[in-house]
Amino acid sequence: MGNPLADELSSSRRAKPCALVIFGATGDLTRRKLVPALMGLAQDGLLPTGFAVVGFARRAFEGPAFVDELRDGVKQHSRGRGEETLTAMQEAFSYVQAEYDDPAGYQKLKAHLEEIDKARGTQGNRVFYLATPPSAYSTILEHLRASGLSTEAGGRFARVIVEKPFGRDLPSARALNEQVAAGFKERQVFRIDHYLGKETVQNILVLRFANGIFEPLWNEKFIDHVQITVAEAIGVEGRGAYFEEAGIIRDMIQNHLLQVLTLVAMDPPAALGADAVRDEKVKVLRAIRSLTPDEVAETTVRGQYTAGFQAGQEVPGYHDELGVAKDSKVETFAAVKLQIENWRWGGTPFFLRSAKRMPRRVTEVAIHFKSPPHRLFAATGCGNLDQNILLVRIQPDEGVSIRFGSKVPGPDYRIRDVRMDFRYGMAFGGSTADAYERLLLDAIVGDSTLFARRDEVEEAWRIVDAIVSGWAAKGIEPERYEAGTWGPDLADQLLGDGREWRRP
Ligand code: BG6
Repeated sequence: MGNPLADELSSSRRAKPCALVIFGATGDLTRRKLVPALMGLAQDGLLPTGFAVVGFARRAFEGPAFVDELRDGVKQHSRGRGEETLTAMQEAFSYVQAEYDDPAGYQKLKAHLEEIDKARGTQGNRVFYLATPPSAYSTILEHLRASGLSTEAGGRFARVIVEKPFGRDLPSARALNEQVAAGFKERQVFRIDHYLGKETVQNILVLRFANGIFEPLWNEKFIDHVQITVAEAIGVEGRGAYFEEAGIIRDMIQNHLLQVLTLVAMDPPAALGADAVRDEKVKVLRAIRSLTPDEVAETTVRGQYTAGFQAGQEVPGYHDELGVAKDSKVETFAAVKLQIENWRWGGTPFFLRSAKRMPRRVTEVAIHFKSPPHRLFAATGCGNLDQNILLVRIQPDEGVSIRFGSKVPGPDYRIRDVRMDFRYGMAFGGSTADAYERLLLDAIVGDSTLFARRDEVEEAWRIVDAIVSGWAAKGIEPERYEAGTWGPDLADQLLGDGREWRRP
């Protein structure tokens, strides 16, 4: 019996047989995201017929112990009947134990993959997933190159998926890109930003370019400013040591927020191809100047949470999180004003804000339109209406709404803001697939549209590096904000011209 989702796919979107090799197969990402995503794809009939998963890590496993190790993660994090699916496809899973820096391990992997080609019909195609801590990337990439595993020959493909963080500044990202390029051509490389796998993020392109009504207004003439917010209720959740190295600017703004910004601000691509789309996205980043330290002082705000309450529960301050220095100056909140210096956006600021320990989890893009040129209703006492807002709710409560003024029924002109609402859940029912499902499938299919290209990653680092060095040059330290609040008061002053942050 056919599967409706699989049957709907065009032939270019059907996955070819391949083996997926996961480096860091015993890690959290594999357990919580990758294997549950594979189960989702399997349930929807989207995996190729010849398919295998090869775990590669340092830990030793006996017999089926690797699959057993994955079972818990699948139970907790899969949608649908994940565990049954894992049992049904356990033959597809195998494991190679080796040190990442041992050349013999890669020879063992090579021989193992050749066996798998025969046993499971994977036809010599490979997708390598770097899901290890980033410190191991360089070693693995070098060995993939030296062992010939990265080479494509005789119509077979070899692809590499690289998890974030992709470097920690422009020089390290460039060095990593060089290393990737030593073994893989750009079209073989898939740099993951899981926000691009979210349905609602992809819908930004559909909203803008599949409809006639928005795009004529999508420019500085009609849009006053744009707010992009990624607020999380959680703290650093045991990842204090990582966060101390990153801060919210590297963890979220460099990748997820700047990626969303490119989709909101880009010009229409001529086609949907990976390069056509990414050419337009990177132009947006190029049009954002590196801020000078003085500009950084004026147009950015850093914050760090102190102890507070969340959902009635007392939560610790950042300083008291595991792995965090008591005198840490790392930000858990950042707000940034960016100007895209091009024809479409000259004079329309984009405000980006991301933080941990906000009152609730919300990711949204709010397009604030300019007020009408003439206040016709001023004399009625309704002159200062709020701006129209087009709100793209990325998560949770996924949807799109438009805020506009409406006449309150009655004998005079009283005007009130109302909302026209589209909700994904209501319109399409059910829950959507996890971002990793879409991205894993795209990498297996060979479509890199939803992955960051080398130049995009480097441009994003250029923008972020200027902010980080501005903070250092000006001695800008994070302002304190209480956990469970919307961040430091200073962030309100960033907007200027009577604008206010949305309190979603
Ligand atoms: C990750 C960050 O990339 O994204 C985390 O490292 C963050 O710090 C997470 O919590 C947020 O992702 P999502 O999909 O839950 O919004």
